[in-house]
Amino acid sequence: MCYKNGVEMQTTAATAGSPGPAATALTGRQRFLNACACQPVDRPPVWLMRQAGRALPEYRGLRQKHSFLDLVQTPELAAEVTLQPVRRFGFDAAILFSDILVTAEGLGQKYRFDESHGIQMDFALRSAADIARLDARALPERLQYLPRALRLVKTALANQTALIGFAGSPWTLATFMAEGGGAEHYTRALALFRKDRKTYFELAEKLTAAIVAHLQLQIEAGVDVIQIFDSHGGLLAPTEFQEASGQWIKEIISELRASTLRSRATAEDGPNSELPVIVFSLGTHGNWDDLLATGASVLGIDWRFPLADARRLLPGKIGVQGNLAPALLSDATPEVVAAETARLLGAMRGRNGYIFNLGHGVPPEARLENITALVGTVKNFK
Ligand code: CP3
Repeated sequence: MCYKNGVEMQTTAATAGSPGPAATALTGRQRFLNACACQPVDRPPVWLMRQAGRALPEYRGLRQKHSFLDLVQTPELAAEVTLQPVRRFGFDAAILFSDILVTAEGLGQKYRFDESHGIQMDFALRSAADIARLDARALPERLQYLPRALRLVKTALANQTALIGFAGSPWTLATFMAEGGGAEHYTRALALFRKDRKTYFELAEKLTAAIVAHLQLQIEAGVDVIQIFDSHGGLLAPTEFQEASGQWIKEIISELRASTLRSRATAEDGPNSELPVIVFSLGTHGNWDDLLATGASVLGIDWRFPLADARRLLPGKIGVQGNLAPALLSDATPEVVAAETARLLGAMRGRNGYIFNLGHGVPPEARLENITALVGTVKNFK
């Protein structure tokens, strides 16, 4: 892997002067890695959380023939779905088509998805004995479809577009696993954390080890960047966040960095710059100190928090990602999307380390012309 090469090449190109031929020659991958390292770019890179999926007619076409799990678990299909949004919109980064619940599958708690029942898992974690059943040893074997899909994607991207690997946070995974699927309120994990801290910590420790193994598979297969989704962080009180979620994310990042440095010490490019990690924790923007303490290179900002305030509050060495309101993609006109995109770009003007994204995932009802307006506005930003 060559984070170093990516970053160095970009730095050379982008610091050569005001946007000239060198700067405009940045590949999406170089632009994205530069932004993750808070290095200069010609314009902010852009990708969207949940960019692969139901908003795209080509995805819905494949879903007529295949179940969601077939798409995730068949490397050729997962690679195709990963590439669909990149082909259509020219994003600077691709994100592997997969799911955060794949970690639970790796631990032996399988899941299914269909429109009428949502996410359903084979069992729910109701006791310490259920937690004891989870076993990470077979995870690499159970998830061997992931590195296969990633290698196909990596070859197709030919270093032009960055490749993002991802996992859920221990806390967010625990909320699904304790319920045994999607739920209206995720009360069981909260109750476990509040009433039986010892058992919650045992679960969080297991999940941390499994998530590290899940992410290592992706890193070994060549992803450039990792994103950790803590989509349910905001279910916690601010005083609970560090113990329930933040500390475990921190442990994952430090373990990944230590192991990638170890493996790269023997690799061609030698030990070099850190593995870039984006932490997206939804609804926890009162917890800046805890979020910074995770060791994230970039923090994702949800759409409820003013981006200009994030810019003011965060140190310049930390990247900022976000945060267009996702509902605008389904409910607004292309003109409104373009205007709001331009407003966010303006608020971040001149700030190194800015990555354009939504403040959460692409809604299934997103209008394609709105995504086109968003991407066009970022790409033409001067
Ligand atoms: O970003 C991408 O395009 C890559 C693919 C991706 C999926 N899920 C595919 C998917 C990613 C990054 C995820 C992450 C994920 N999965 C999160 C974190 C992000 C977030 O939205 O908060 C969470 C909480 C999940 C769990 C999950 N998976 C739920 C709750 C659901 C059902 C409801 C929903 O949001 O769709 C899924 C199923 C799922 N994962 C679909 C897709 C495209 C829908 C499958 C379909 O309808 O075909």
